[in-house]
Amino acid sequence: TELSKIRNFSIVAHIDHGKSTLADRLIQQTGTVKERDMQEQLLDSMDIERERGITIKANTVRIEYPANDGDTYVLNLIDTPGHVDFAYEVSRSMQAVEGSLLVVDASQGVEAQTLANVYQAIDADHEIVPVLNKVDLPAADCDRVAEQIEDVIGIDATDALQISAKTGIGIPDVLEAIVERLPAPEGDRDAPLKAMLVDSYYDAYLGVVVIIRVIDGVIKKGDRIKMLGTGGKYPVDRLGVFRPKMEDIGELGPGEIGFLTASIKQVRDTRVGDTITHEKKGTEDALDGFKPAQPVVFCGLFPVDSAQFEDLRDSIEKLALNDASFSFEMETSAALGFGFRCGFLGLLHLEVIRDRIEREYDIDLITTAPSVIYHVFMKDGSMIELHNPADMPDPSTIDHMEEPRIKATILVPDEYLGDVLKLCQDRRGIQEDLTYAGTRAMAVYDLPLNEVVFDFYDRLKSVTKGYASFDYQMTGYREDNLVKMSVLVNDEPVDALSTMVHRDRAEMRGRAMCEKLKDLIPRHMFKIPIQAAIGGKVIARETLSALRKDVTAKCYGGDATRKKKLLEKQKAGKKKMRQFGKVEIPQQAFINALKMD
Ligand code: GTP
Repeated sequence: TELSKIRNFSIVAHIDHGKSTLADRLIQQTGTVKERDMQEQLLDSMDIERERGITIKANTVRIEYPANDGDTYVLNLIDTPGHVDFAYEVSRSMQAVEGSLLVVDASQGVEAQTLANVYQAIDADHEIVPVLNKVDLPAADCDRVAEQIEDVIGIDATDALQISAKTGIGIPDVLEAIVERLPAPEGDRDAPLKAMLVDSYYDAYLGVVVIIRVIDGVIKKGDRIKMLGTGGKYPVDRLGVFRPKMEDIGELGPGEIGFLTASIKQVRDTRVGDTITHEKKGTEDALDGFKPAQPVVFCGLFPVDSAQFEDLRDSIEKLALNDASFSFEMETSAALGFGFRCGFLGLLHLEVIRDRIEREYDIDLITTAPSVIYHVFMKDGSMIELHNPADMPDPSTIDHMEEPRIKATILVPDEYLGDVLKLCQDRRGIQEDLTYAGTRAMAVYDLPLNEVVFDFYDRLKSVTKGYASFDYQMTGYREDNLVKMSVLVNDEPVDALSTMVHRDRAEMRGRAMCEKLKDLIPRHMFKIPIQAAIGGKVIARETLSALRKDVTAKCYGGDATRKKKLLEKQKAGKKKMRQFGKVEIPQQAFINALKMD
Protein backbone atom coordinates (compact mmCIF):
# COMPACT_ATOMS: atom_id res chain seq x y z
CA THR A 1 0.00 0.00 0.00
CA GLU A 2 1.13 3.53 -0.79
CA LEU A 3 2.29 5.40 2.30
CA SER A 4 -0.05 8.33 1.69
CA LYS A 5 -3.01 5.94 1.86
CA ILE A 6 -2.13 4.53 5.29
CA ARG A 7 -3.13 5.83 8.69
CA ASN A 8 -1.97 4.17 11.89
CA PHE A 9 -3.63 5.09 15.12
CA SER A 10 -4.54 4.04 18.62
CA ILE A 11 -7.40 4.96 20.88
CA VAL A 12 -6.58 6.27 24.33
CA ALA A 13 -9.20 6.53 27.03
CA HIS A 14 -9.98 6.02 30.66
CA ILE A 15 -11.56 2.66 31.46
CA ASP A 16 -15.23 2.51 30.46
CA HIS A 17 -15.19 5.66 28.39
CA GLY A 18 -16.00 3.57 25.34
CA LYS A 19 -12.76 2.67 23.61
CA SER A 20 -13.74 -0.88 22.72
CA THR A 21 -17.24 0.13 21.68
CA LEU A 22 -15.79 2.74 19.33
CA ALA A 23 -13.31 0.24 17.88
CA ASP A 24 -16.14 -2.20 17.23
CA ARG A 25 -18.15 0.54 15.56
CA LEU A 26 -15.30 1.52 13.23
CA ILE A 27 -14.85 -2.11 12.24
CA GLN A 28 -18.54 -2.55 11.66
CA GLN A 29 -19.03 0.70 9.75
CA THR A 30 -16.33 -0.18 7.24
CA GLY A 31 -17.75 -3.62 6.67
CA THR A 32 -14.54 -5.19 7.92
CA VAL A 33 -16.67 -7.77 9.64
CA LYS A 34 -19.93 -9.02 8.16
CA GLU A 35 -22.93 -7.97 10.19
CA ARG A 36 -23.74 -11.51 11.30
CA ASP A 37 -20.19 -12.09 12.61
CA MET A 38 -20.31 -8.99 14.72
CA GLN A 39 -20.28 -9.64 18.40
CA GLU A 40 -19.78 -6.95 20.91
CA GLN A 41 -16.26 -6.02 21.88
CA LEU A 42 -14.60 -7.90 19.08
CA LEU A 43 -11.17 -6.88 20.11
CA ASP A 44 -11.41 -8.18 23.64
CA SER A 45 -10.84 -11.80 22.90
CA MET A 46 -10.24 -13.42 26.23
CA ASP A 47 -13.29 -14.40 28.25
CA ILE A 48 -12.07 -12.68 31.33
CA GLU A 49 -11.59 -9.45 29.42
CA ARG A 50 -15.06 -9.75 28.08
CA GLU A 51 -16.55 -10.32 31.49
CA ARG A 52 -14.70 -7.56 33.22
CA GLY A 53 -14.77 -5.31 30.22
CA ILE A 54 -11.07 -4.59 30.41
CA THR A 55 -8.63 -4.88 27.59
CA ILE A 56 -5.42 -6.58 28.58
CA LYS A 57 -3.29 -7.34 25.55
CA ALA A 58 -2.79 -4.88 22.77
CA ASN A 59 -4.70 -5.99 19.69
CA THR A 60 -4.54 -4.74 16.17
CA VAL A 61 -6.99 -4.54 13.33
CA ARG A 62 -6.75 -3.41 9.70
CA ILE A 63 -9.69 -1.51 8.29
CA GLU A 64 -10.22 -0.49 4.66
CA TYR A 65 -12.04 2.79 4.36
CA PRO A 66 -13.25 4.48 1.17
CA ALA A 67 -12.93 8.15 2.15
CA ASN A 68 -14.91 11.13 0.89
CA ASP A 69 -11.98 12.10 -1.34
CA GLY A 70 -12.65 9.01 -3.44
CA ASP A 71 -9.56 7.09 -2.34
CA THR A 72 -9.54 3.97 -0.20
CA TYR A 73 -7.35 4.13 2.87
CA VAL A 74 -5.88 1.41 5.03
CA LEU A 75 -6.44 2.25 8.68
CA ASN A 76 -4.49 0.26 11.24
CA LEU A 77 -5.80 0.43 14.75
CA ILE A 78 -3.73 -0.76 17.66
CA ASP A 79 -5.93 -1.23 20.68
CA THR A 80 -4.19 -0.44 23.93
CA PRO A 81 -5.01 -1.51 27.47
CA GLY A 82 -6.48 1.19 29.66
CA HIS A 83 -5.37 0.14 33.12
CA VAL A 84 -2.48 1.51 35.15
CA ASP A 85 -0.65 -1.81 35.42
CA PHE A 86 -0.31 -1.99 31.69
CA ALA A 87 1.12 1.47 31.07
CA TYR A 88 4.15 -0.23 29.57
CA GLU A 89 2.08 -1.92 26.89
CA VAL A 90 0.47 1.38 26.10
CA SER A 91 3.84 3.02 25.61
CA ARG A 92 5.12 0.29 23.31
CA SER A 93 2.10 0.34 21.02
CA MET A 94 2.19 4.13 20.90
CA GLN A 95 5.59 3.95 19.25
CA ALA A 96 4.11 1.96 16.38
CA VAL A 97 1.51 4.51 15.29
CA GLU A 98 1.42 8.20 14.36
CA GLY A 99 -1.82 9.38 15.91
CA SER A 100 -4.40 8.84 18.61
CA LEU A 101 -8.08 9.29 19.13
CA LEU A 102 -8.52 10.64 22.63
CA VAL A 103 -11.87 9.32 23.79
CA VAL A 104 -13.46 11.06 26.76
CA ASP A 105 -16.87 10.20 28.15
CA ALA A 106 -18.81 13.45 27.78
CA SER A 107 -20.90 12.65 30.85
CA GLN A 108 -17.81 12.04 33.02
CA GLY A 109 -14.95 14.16 31.84
CA VAL A 110 -11.21 13.68 32.06
CA GLU A 111 -10.05 10.96 34.46
CA ALA A 112 -6.69 9.85 35.82
CA GLN A 113 -6.07 7.28 33.10
CA THR A 114 -7.15 9.72 30.41
CA LEU A 115 -4.24 11.85 31.55
CA ALA A 116 -1.72 9.04 31.92
CA ASN A 117 -2.53 7.62 28.49
CA VAL A 118 -2.70 10.89 26.64
CA TYR A 119 0.68 11.93 28.02
CA GLN A 120 2.10 8.75 26.56
CA ALA A 121 0.59 9.71 23.20
CA ILE A 122 2.06 13.20 23.48
CA ASP A 123 5.45 11.69 24.37
CA ALA A 124 5.25 9.58 21.23
CA ASP A 125 4.67 12.78 19.19
CA HIS A 126 1.18 11.80 18.16
CA GLU A 127 -1.32 13.94 16.38
CA ILE A 128 -4.33 13.76 18.73
CA VAL A 129 -7.99 13.97 17.79
CA PRO A 130 -10.24 14.56 20.81
CA VAL A 131 -13.48 12.58 20.67
CA LEU A 132 -16.32 13.23 23.09
CA ASN A 133 -18.24 10.00 23.46
CA LYS A 134 -21.64 9.10 24.90
CA VAL A 135 -23.38 12.25 23.66
CA ASP A 136 -26.60 10.21 23.69
CA LEU A 137 -26.61 10.36 27.50
CA PRO A 138 -28.66 13.18 29.04
CA ALA A 139 -25.78 13.94 31.39
CA ALA A 140 -23.38 14.58 28.49
CA ASP A 141 -21.91 18.08 28.62
CA CYS A 142 -19.64 18.53 25.61
CA ASP A 143 -18.73 22.18 26.22
CA ARG A 144 -17.65 21.56 29.76
CA VAL A 145 -15.61 18.47 28.87
CA ALA A 146 -13.97 20.16 25.87
CA GLU A 147 -12.93 22.98 28.16
CA GLN A 148 -11.59 20.51 30.67
CA ILE A 149 -9.51 18.82 27.97
CA GLU A 150 -7.96 22.18 27.16
CA ASP A 151 -7.42 23.17 30.80
CA VAL A 152 -6.14 19.91 32.19
CA ILE A 153 -4.39 18.30 29.22
CA GLY A 154 -3.54 21.43 27.32
CA ILE A 155 -4.55 20.34 23.83
CA ASP A 156 -6.89 22.18 21.49
CA ALA A 157 -10.41 20.77 21.72
CA THR A 158 -12.27 23.23 19.50
CA ASP A 159 -12.62 20.58 16.80
CA ALA A 160 -13.45 17.76 19.19
CA LEU A 161 -15.82 15.26 17.60
CA GLN A 162 -19.10 14.58 19.33
CA ILE A 163 -20.15 10.99 19.00
CA SER A 164 -22.02 8.08 20.47
CA ALA A 165 -20.16 4.84 19.93
CA LYS A 166 -23.25 3.09 21.19
CA THR A 167 -25.87 4.52 18.84
CA GLY A 168 -23.47 5.27 15.97
CA ILE A 169 -23.85 9.08 15.97
CA GLY A 170 -20.76 10.73 14.49
CA ILE A 171 -18.92 7.57 13.48
CA PRO A 172 -18.46 8.65 9.83
CA ASP A 173 -16.85 11.85 11.12
CA VAL A 174 -14.38 9.81 13.12
CA LEU A 175 -13.31 7.89 10.01
CA GLU A 176 -12.92 11.11 8.02
CA ALA A 177 -10.95 12.75 10.84
CA ILE A 178 -8.55 9.81 10.93
CA VAL A 179 -7.82 10.29 7.22
CA GLU A 180 -7.76 14.10 7.25
CA ARG A 181 -6.21 14.96 10.57
CA LEU A 182 -3.74 12.16 11.26
CA PRO A 183 -0.43 12.09 9.37
CA ALA A 184 0.51 9.31 6.96
CA PRO A 185 3.49 7.20 8.05
CA GLU A 186 6.94 7.76 6.56
CA GLY A 187 9.36 5.11 5.38
CA ASP A 188 11.63 3.95 2.58
CA ARG A 189 10.61 0.93 0.57
CA ASP A 190 14.07 0.52 -0.95
CA ALA A 191 15.97 0.65 2.32
CA PRO A 192 16.97 -2.54 4.19
CA LEU A 193 14.14 -4.08 6.20
CA LYS A 194 13.55 -2.47 9.56
CA ALA A 195 10.46 -3.47 11.52
CA MET A 196 9.49 -3.05 15.13
CA LEU A 197 8.33 -5.96 17.22
CA VAL A 198 5.19 -4.43 18.74
CA ASP A 199 3.82 -7.37 20.67
CA SER A 200 3.65 -11.13 20.64
CA TYR A 201 1.36 -13.78 22.00
CA TYR A 202 1.17 -17.52 22.13
CA ASP A 203 -1.42 -19.36 20.08
CA ALA A 204 -1.96 -23.06 20.70
CA TYR A 205 -2.08 -23.82 16.96
CA LEU A 206 0.31 -21.30 15.46
CA GLY A 207 2.90 -20.99 18.20
CA VAL A 208 4.15 -17.46 18.84
CA VAL A 209 2.44 -14.79 16.75
CA VAL A 210 4.49 -11.62 16.42
CA ILE A 211 2.88 -8.26 15.69
CA ILE A 212 5.12 -5.99 13.67
CA ARG A 213 5.20 -2.49 12.30
CA VAL A 214 7.32 -2.11 9.21
CA ILE A 215 9.37 1.09 9.16
CA ASP A 216 11.59 0.64 6.10
CA GLY A 217 11.87 -2.07 3.47
CA VAL A 218 9.54 -4.93 2.64
CA ILE A 219 8.99 -8.24 4.40
CA LYS A 220 7.66 -11.27 2.53
CA LYS A 221 6.55 -14.75 3.41
CA GLY A 222 9.54 -17.12 3.33
CA ASP A 223 12.09 -14.38 4.10
CA ARG A 224 14.81 -15.25 6.57
CA ILE A 225 14.70 -12.72 9.36
CA LYS A 226 16.91 -11.77 12.27
CA MET A 227 16.07 -10.02 15.52
CA LEU A 228 18.79 -7.54 16.36
CA GLY A 229 18.29 -7.60 20.13
CA THR A 230 18.02 -11.32 20.79
CA GLY A 231 20.03 -12.48 17.79
CA GLY A 232 17.29 -15.00 16.91
CA LYS A 233 17.08 -16.08 13.25
CA TYR A 234 13.94 -17.50 11.70
CA PRO A 235 12.25 -18.13 8.36
CA VAL A 236 8.88 -16.36 8.10
CA ASP A 237 6.21 -19.08 7.92
CA ARG A 238 3.20 -16.88 7.72
CA LEU A 239 2.63 -13.21 7.14
CA GLY A 240 -0.72 -11.51 7.47
CA VAL A 241 -3.02 -8.87 8.84
CA PHE A 242 -5.92 -8.88 11.29
CA ARG A 243 -9.31 -7.92 9.86
CA PRO A 244 -9.78 -8.72 12.74
CA LYS A 245 -9.56 -12.41 11.78
CA MET A 246 -6.12 -13.45 10.59
CA GLU A 247 -5.72 -13.15 6.86
CA ASP A 248 -2.57 -14.03 4.91
CA ILE A 249 -0.86 -11.39 2.85
CA GLY A 250 2.06 -11.60 0.42
CA GLU A 251 4.13 -8.75 1.81
CA LEU A 252 4.12 -5.88 4.25
CA GLY A 253 5.78 -2.62 3.25
CA PRO A 254 6.70 0.62 5.06
CA GLY A 255 4.02 1.98 7.37
CA GLU A 256 2.13 -1.31 7.46
CA ILE A 257 1.16 -3.27 10.54
CA GLY A 258 0.58 -7.01 10.55
CA PHE A 259 1.71 -10.28 12.03
CA LEU A 260 4.16 -13.03 11.30
CA THR A 261 4.77 -16.53 12.59
CA ALA A 262 8.19 -18.12 12.39
CA SER A 263 8.32 -21.30 14.48
CA ILE A 264 9.17 -19.26 17.54
CA LYS A 265 8.64 -21.53 20.55
CA GLN A 266 7.81 -19.14 23.34
CA VAL A 267 6.90 -15.52 23.95
CA ARG A 268 10.05 -15.22 26.03
CA ASP A 269 12.10 -15.57 22.83
CA THR A 270 10.67 -12.31 21.54
CA ARG A 271 11.49 -8.94 22.98
CA VAL A 272 9.03 -6.14 22.59
CA GLY A 273 10.66 -3.18 20.90
CA ASP A 274 13.25 -5.38 19.20
CA THR A 275 14.23 -4.61 15.61
CA ILE A 276 13.40 -7.20 12.96
CA THR A 277 15.46 -7.20 9.78
CA HIS A 278 16.59 -9.58 7.04
CA GLU A 279 19.27 -12.10 7.92
CA LYS A 280 21.21 -11.03 4.79
CA LYS A 281 21.61 -7.38 3.80
CA GLY A 282 19.69 -6.29 6.86
CA THR A 283 19.99 -3.05 8.74
CA GLU A 284 22.34 -2.77 11.66
CA ASP A 285 20.68 0.31 12.97
CA ALA A 286 18.50 -0.93 15.83
CA LEU A 287 15.50 0.96 17.12
CA ASP A 288 15.84 2.39 20.58
CA GLY A 289 15.33 -0.74 22.64
CA PHE A 290 12.51 -0.83 25.13
CA LYS A 291 13.20 -2.02 28.60
CA PRO A 292 11.16 -5.08 29.47
CA ALA A 293 8.38 -4.61 31.98
CA GLN A 294 9.62 -5.51 35.44
CA PRO A 295 7.37 -7.15 38.00
CA VAL A 296 6.82 -4.85 40.99
CA VAL A 297 4.32 -6.73 43.12
CA PHE A 298 5.02 -10.18 44.50
CA CYS A 299 2.89 -12.72 46.28
CA GLY A 300 2.72 -16.42 46.95
CA LEU A 301 0.16 -18.56 45.16
CA PHE A 302 -0.60 -21.90 46.82
CA PRO A 303 -3.19 -24.53 45.94
CA VAL A 304 -5.86 -24.94 48.61
CA ASP A 305 -5.67 -28.66 47.92
CA SER A 306 -2.00 -29.62 48.03
CA ALA A 307 -2.69 -32.47 45.58
CA GLN A 308 -3.16 -29.78 42.93
CA PHE A 309 0.39 -28.51 43.12
CA GLU A 310 1.41 -30.08 39.80
CA ASP A 311 -1.70 -28.70 38.13
CA LEU A 312 -0.78 -25.29 39.46
CA ARG A 313 2.74 -25.59 38.06
CA ASP A 314 1.31 -26.57 34.72
CA SER A 315 -1.13 -23.66 34.61
CA ILE A 316 1.50 -21.12 35.62
CA GLU A 317 3.92 -22.38 32.98
CA LYS A 318 1.23 -22.17 30.32
CA LEU A 319 0.22 -18.66 31.31
CA ALA A 320 3.86 -17.57 31.35
CA LEU A 321 4.19 -18.69 27.73
CA ASN A 322 1.90 -15.86 26.80
CA ASP A 323 2.91 -13.29 29.34
CA ALA A 324 6.58 -12.59 29.67
CA SER A 325 5.90 -9.84 32.21
CA PHE A 326 5.04 -12.19 34.99
CA SER A 327 7.67 -14.19 36.88
CA PHE A 328 7.48 -17.22 39.15
CA GLU A 329 9.60 -19.52 41.24
CA MET A 330 8.78 -22.37 43.57
CA GLU A 331 8.22 -21.57 47.20
CA THR A 332 7.52 -23.71 50.25
CA SER A 333 5.73 -22.61 53.35
CA ALA A 334 5.17 -24.48 56.59
CA ALA A 335 1.63 -23.16 56.65
CA LEU A 336 0.65 -23.51 53.05
CA GLY A 337 2.84 -26.27 51.65
CA PHE A 338 4.23 -26.08 48.11
CA GLY A 339 3.42 -23.14 45.89
CA PHE A 340 4.95 -20.37 43.81
CA ARG A 341 6.25 -16.92 44.50
CA CYS A 342 5.02 -14.83 41.59
CA GLY A 343 5.83 -11.32 40.38
CA PHE A 344 3.34 -9.04 38.62
CA LEU A 345 3.22 -5.61 37.03
CA GLY A 346 0.62 -4.49 39.54
CA LEU A 347 -2.41 -5.56 41.51
CA LEU A 348 -4.75 -5.85 38.54
CA HIS A 349 -2.24 -8.00 36.72
CA LEU A 350 -2.05 -10.19 39.84
CA GLU A 351 -5.81 -10.45 39.96
CA VAL A 352 -6.11 -11.32 36.30
CA ILE A 353 -3.53 -14.12 36.50
CA ARG A 354 -5.04 -15.49 39.70
CA ASP A 355 -8.53 -15.48 38.21
CA ARG A 356 -7.35 -17.20 35.08
CA ILE A 357 -5.69 -19.98 37.08
CA GLU A 358 -8.80 -20.48 39.16
CA ARG A 359 -11.18 -20.34 36.24
CA GLU A 360 -9.40 -21.78 33.26
CA TYR A 361 -7.55 -24.45 35.23
CA ASP A 362 -10.05 -24.98 38.00
CA ILE A 363 -7.60 -24.65 40.90
CA ASP A 364 -8.58 -23.02 44.19
CA LEU A 365 -5.80 -20.73 45.33
CA ILE A 366 -4.54 -19.12 48.49
CA THR A 367 -2.86 -15.80 47.80
CA THR A 368 -0.46 -14.41 50.38
CA ALA A 369 -0.33 -10.69 51.12
CA PRO A 370 1.25 -8.81 48.21
CA SER A 371 4.70 -7.39 48.75
CA VAL A 372 6.99 -5.07 46.84
CA ILE A 373 10.76 -5.29 46.26
CA TYR A 374 12.78 -3.80 49.11
CA HIS A 375 16.42 -2.88 48.82
CA VAL A 376 18.23 -4.21 51.87
CA PHE A 377 21.65 -2.65 52.40
CA MET A 378 23.85 -4.92 54.47
CA LYS A 379 26.52 -3.81 56.90
CA ASP A 380 29.10 -5.53 54.68
CA GLY A 381 28.24 -3.08 51.89
CA SER A 382 26.24 -5.46 49.70
CA MET A 383 22.62 -4.95 48.65
CA ILE A 384 19.87 -7.56 48.50
CA GLU A 385 16.61 -7.24 46.60
CA LEU A 386 14.00 -8.65 48.94
CA HIS A 387 10.91 -10.08 47.23
CA ASN A 388 9.63 -12.14 50.10
CA PRO A 389 9.52 -11.21 53.79
CA ALA A 390 10.44 -14.83 54.55
CA ASP A 391 13.93 -14.18 53.09
CA MET A 392 14.63 -11.20 55.34
CA PRO A 393 18.20 -11.38 56.67
CA ASP A 394 18.98 -11.13 60.38
CA PRO A 395 18.23 -7.48 61.30
CA SER A 396 21.55 -7.15 63.14
CA THR A 397 23.37 -7.59 59.81
CA ILE A 398 21.33 -4.88 58.07
CA ASP A 399 22.52 -1.32 57.75
CA HIS A 400 19.37 0.23 56.29
CA MET A 401 16.48 -0.49 53.94
CA GLU A 402 14.84 1.32 51.05
CA GLU A 403 11.35 0.94 49.64
CA PRO A 404 9.89 1.81 46.23
CA ARG A 405 7.86 5.01 45.95
CA ILE A 406 5.29 6.09 43.42
CA LYS A 407 3.82 9.29 42.11
CA ALA A 408 0.06 8.88 42.33
CA THR A 409 -2.42 11.08 40.50
CA ILE A 410 -5.95 11.08 41.83
CA LEU A 411 -8.90 12.89 40.28
CA VAL A 412 -11.94 13.24 42.49
CA PRO A 413 -15.09 15.34 42.86
CA ASP A 414 -14.55 18.12 45.44
CA GLU A 415 -16.90 16.69 48.02
CA TYR A 416 -14.72 13.60 48.53
CA LEU A 417 -11.39 15.41 48.52
CA GLY A 418 -11.11 15.51 52.30
CA ASP A 419 -11.43 11.75 52.56
CA VAL A 420 -8.91 11.20 49.81
CA LEU A 421 -6.34 13.46 51.44
CA LYS A 422 -6.83 11.66 54.73
CA LEU A 423 -6.38 8.28 53.07
CA CYS A 424 -3.15 9.41 51.41
CA GLN A 425 -1.90 10.84 54.70
CA ASP A 426 -2.71 7.60 56.50
CA ARG A 427 -0.67 5.75 53.91
CA ARG A 428 2.42 7.87 54.58
CA GLY A 429 1.82 9.98 51.50
CA ILE A 430 3.50 13.32 50.83
CA GLN A 431 1.39 15.84 48.95
CA GLU A 432 3.10 17.20 45.85
CA ASP A 433 0.31 19.06 44.12
CA LEU A 434 -3.35 19.95 44.50
CA THR A 435 -5.26 21.66 41.69
CA TYR A 436 -8.87 22.21 40.74
CA ALA A 437 -10.57 21.86 37.36
CA GLY A 438 -14.24 22.74 37.61
CA THR A 439 -15.80 20.69 40.39
CA ARG A 440 -13.00 18.18 40.41
CA ALA A 441 -9.73 18.20 42.24
CA MET A 442 -6.49 16.65 41.15
CA ALA A 443 -4.18 15.53 43.93
CA VAL A 444 -0.67 14.33 43.27
CA TYR A 445 1.01 12.34 46.02
CA ASP A 446 4.33 10.71 46.61
CA LEU A 447 3.43 7.39 48.27
CA PRO A 448 5.20 4.19 49.26
CA LEU A 449 4.19 1.48 46.78
CA ASN A 450 3.87 -0.94 49.67
CA GLU A 451 0.95 1.03 51.08
CA VAL A 452 -0.74 1.06 47.70
CA VAL A 453 -0.50 -2.63 46.86
CA PHE A 454 -2.09 -3.48 50.15
CA ASP A 455 -5.64 -2.25 49.63
CA PHE A 456 -5.32 1.39 48.63
CA TYR A 457 -7.36 1.16 45.48
CA ASP A 458 -10.27 -0.55 47.22
CA ARG A 459 -10.22 1.99 50.03
CA LEU A 460 -10.08 4.84 47.55
CA LYS A 461 -13.07 3.47 45.71
CA SER A 462 -15.04 3.03 48.89
CA VAL A 463 -14.35 6.46 50.42
CA THR A 464 -15.27 8.17 47.14
CA LYS A 465 -18.17 5.88 46.25
CA GLY A 466 -16.29 4.94 43.10
CA TYR A 467 -15.96 8.52 41.85
CA ALA A 468 -12.20 8.82 42.16
CA SER A 469 -9.83 7.74 39.45
CA PHE A 470 -6.28 6.82 40.10
CA ASP A 471 -3.06 6.30 38.24
CA TYR A 472 0.55 5.94 39.29
CA GLN A 473 4.09 5.58 38.15
CA MET A 474 7.14 4.31 39.96
CA THR A 475 9.58 7.04 40.90
CA GLY A 476 12.41 5.33 42.76
CA TYR A 477 13.61 4.09 46.12
CA ARG A 478 13.86 5.89 49.43
CA GLU A 479 15.15 4.91 52.84
CA ASP A 480 12.62 4.44 55.59
CA ASN A 481 12.17 2.66 58.90
CA LEU A 482 10.97 -0.73 57.70
CA VAL A 483 10.65 -3.90 59.70
CA LYS A 484 9.49 -7.45 59.26
CA MET A 485 6.47 -8.30 61.35
CA SER A 486 6.12 -11.98 62.23
CA VAL A 487 3.03 -13.69 63.52
CA LEU A 488 3.38 -16.36 66.18
CA VAL A 489 0.70 -18.84 67.10
CA ASN A 490 1.43 -20.67 70.36
CA ASP A 491 4.99 -19.30 70.09
CA GLU A 492 5.53 -20.85 66.63
CA PRO A 493 6.14 -18.40 63.77
CA VAL A 494 3.70 -18.75 60.88
CA ASP A 495 5.73 -17.86 57.79
CA ALA A 496 2.82 -17.24 55.43
CA LEU A 497 1.56 -14.40 57.62
CA SER A 498 4.75 -12.40 58.00
CA THR A 499 4.82 -9.02 56.24
CA MET A 500 7.05 -6.00 55.82
CA VAL A 501 5.66 -2.85 57.43
CA HIS A 502 6.71 0.63 58.37
CA ARG A 503 7.75 0.73 62.03
CA ASP A 504 5.09 3.35 62.85
CA ARG A 505 2.32 1.20 61.46
CA ALA A 506 3.46 -2.12 62.86
CA GLU A 507 1.43 -2.00 66.11
CA MET A 508 -1.77 -1.25 64.26
CA ARG A 509 -1.29 -3.95 61.66
CA GLY A 510 -0.15 -6.42 64.31
CA ARG A 511 -3.19 -5.81 66.47
CA ALA A 512 -5.55 -6.19 63.54
CA MET A 513 -3.93 -9.47 62.49
CA CYS A 514 -4.02 -10.94 66.02
CA GLU A 515 -7.67 -10.01 66.47
CA LYS A 516 -8.54 -11.57 63.16
CA LEU A 517 -6.69 -14.79 63.92
CA LYS A 518 -8.31 -15.06 67.31
CA ASP A 519 -11.66 -15.33 65.57
CA LEU A 520 -10.41 -17.68 62.92
CA ILE A 521 -8.46 -20.29 64.86
CA PRO A 522 -10.66 -22.85 66.62
CA ARG A 523 -10.21 -23.24 70.34
CA HIS A 524 -8.05 -26.07 71.61
CA MET A 525 -7.83 -27.90 74.93
CA PHE A 526 -5.21 -25.39 76.03
CA LYS A 527 -4.69 -21.63 75.94
CA ILE A 528 -3.12 -20.30 72.73
CA PRO A 529 -1.22 -17.03 72.61
CA ILE A 530 -1.39 -15.23 69.26
CA GLN A 531 1.32 -12.62 68.86
CA ALA A 532 2.74 -10.18 66.38
CA ALA A 533 6.42 -9.50 66.83
CA ILE A 534 9.29 -7.51 65.39
CA GLY A 535 12.50 -9.42 65.86
CA GLY A 536 12.15 -10.81 69.38
CA LYS A 537 9.84 -8.06 70.58
CA VAL A 538 6.10 -8.72 70.87
CA ILE A 539 4.07 -5.72 69.72
CA ALA A 540 0.54 -7.13 69.84
CA ARG A 541 -1.04 -10.07 71.56
CA GLU A 542 -4.34 -11.90 71.88
CA THR A 543 -5.08 -15.06 73.81
CA LEU A 544 -7.41 -17.74 72.62
CA SER A 545 -8.92 -19.31 75.71
CA ALA A 546 -8.96 -23.05 76.21
CA LEU A 547 -11.84 -25.26 75.25
CA ARG A 548 -13.10 -26.92 78.35
CA LYS A 549 -15.48 -29.55 77.14
CA ASP A 550 -15.14 -32.40 74.73
CA VAL A 551 -17.15 -31.81 71.52
CA THR A 552 -19.15 -34.92 72.24
CA ALA A 553 -19.97 -33.99 75.82
CA LYS A 554 -23.24 -32.42 74.88
CA CYS A 555 -24.52 -35.79 73.71
CA TYR A 556 -24.82 -36.87 77.37
CA GLY A 557 -22.94 -40.02 76.44
CA GLY A 558 -26.28 -41.47 75.42
CA ASP A 559 -26.50 -41.63 71.68
CA ALA A 560 -23.56 -43.71 70.51
CA THR A 561 -24.10 -43.30 66.74
CA ARG A 562 -24.34 -39.55 67.04
CA LYS A 563 -21.15 -39.50 69.07
CA LYS A 564 -19.40 -41.63 66.43
CA LYS A 565 -20.58 -39.34 63.67
CA LEU A 566 -19.25 -36.30 65.46
CA LEU A 567 -15.89 -37.90 65.96
CA GLU A 568 -15.74 -38.85 62.28
CA LYS A 569 -16.59 -35.31 61.31
CA GLN A 570 -13.81 -34.11 63.54
CA LYS A 571 -11.40 -36.49 61.86
CA ALA A 572 -12.35 -35.38 58.36
CA GLY A 573 -11.96 -31.78 59.41
CA LYS A 574 -8.47 -32.51 60.69
CA LYS A 575 -7.26 -33.44 57.25
CA LYS A 576 -7.71 -29.85 56.16
CA MET A 577 -5.77 -28.61 59.17
CA ARG A 578 -2.17 -27.53 59.30
CA GLN A 579 -0.16 -28.42 62.35
CA PHE A 580 1.82 -25.71 64.13
CA GLY A 581 3.57 -27.25 67.06
CA LYS A 582 0.62 -28.42 69.06
CA VAL A 583 -1.86 -26.16 67.33
CA GLU A 584 -3.96 -27.08 64.35
CA ILE A 585 -5.03 -24.24 62.12
CA PRO A 586 -7.67 -24.80 59.47
CA GLN A 587 -6.64 -23.86 55.96
CA GLN A 588 -9.64 -21.56 55.81
CA ALA A 589 -8.18 -19.48 58.65
CA PHE A 590 -5.18 -18.62 56.49
CA ILE A 591 -7.36 -17.76 53.56
CA ASN A 592 -9.42 -15.44 55.71
CA ALA A 593 -6.48 -13.97 57.58
CA LEU A 594 -4.83 -13.09 54.29
CA LYS A 595 -7.93 -11.53 52.86
CA MET A 596 -7.62 -7.80 52.90
CA ASP A 597 -10.50 -5.77 54.17
P1 GTP B 1 -11.86 -0.82 28.72
O1 GTP B 1 -11.78 -1.80 27.58
O2 GTP B 1 -12.14 -1.49 30.00
O3 GTP B 1 -10.74 0.14 28.74
O4 GTP B 1 -13.19 0.05 28.51
P2 GTP B 1 -13.56 0.80 27.22
O5 GTP B 1 -13.03 2.18 27.29
O6 GTP B 1 -13.23 -0.04 26.04
O7 GTP B 1 -15.12 0.94 27.34
P3 GTP B 1 -16.25 0.09 26.62
O8 GTP B 1 -16.22 0.28 25.15
O9 GTP B 1 -16.21 -1.29 27.13
O10 GTP B 1 -17.53 0.85 27.14
C1 GTP B 1 -17.85 0.93 28.51
C2 GTP B 1 -19.34 1.01 28.69
O11 GTP B 1 -19.86 2.22 28.14
C3 GTP B 1 -20.10 -0.11 28.02
O12 GTP B 1 -21.14 -0.50 28.87
C4 GTP B 1 -20.63 0.53 26.75
O13 GTP B 1 -21.83 -0.08 26.31
C5 GTP B 1 -20.89 1.95 27.20
N1 GTP B 1 -20.79 2.89 26.09
C6 GTP B 1 -19.79 3.00 25.18
N2 GTP B 1 -20.06 3.99 24.32
C7 GTP B 1 -21.25 4.53 24.67
C8 GTP B 1 -22.05 5.60 24.17
O14 GTP B 1 -21.74 6.26 23.19
N3 GTP B 1 -23.21 5.86 24.83
C9 GTP B 1 -23.60 5.14 25.92
N4 GTP B 1 -24.75 5.47 26.50
N5 GTP B 1 -22.86 4.15 26.42
C10 GTP B 1 -21.71 3.83 25.82
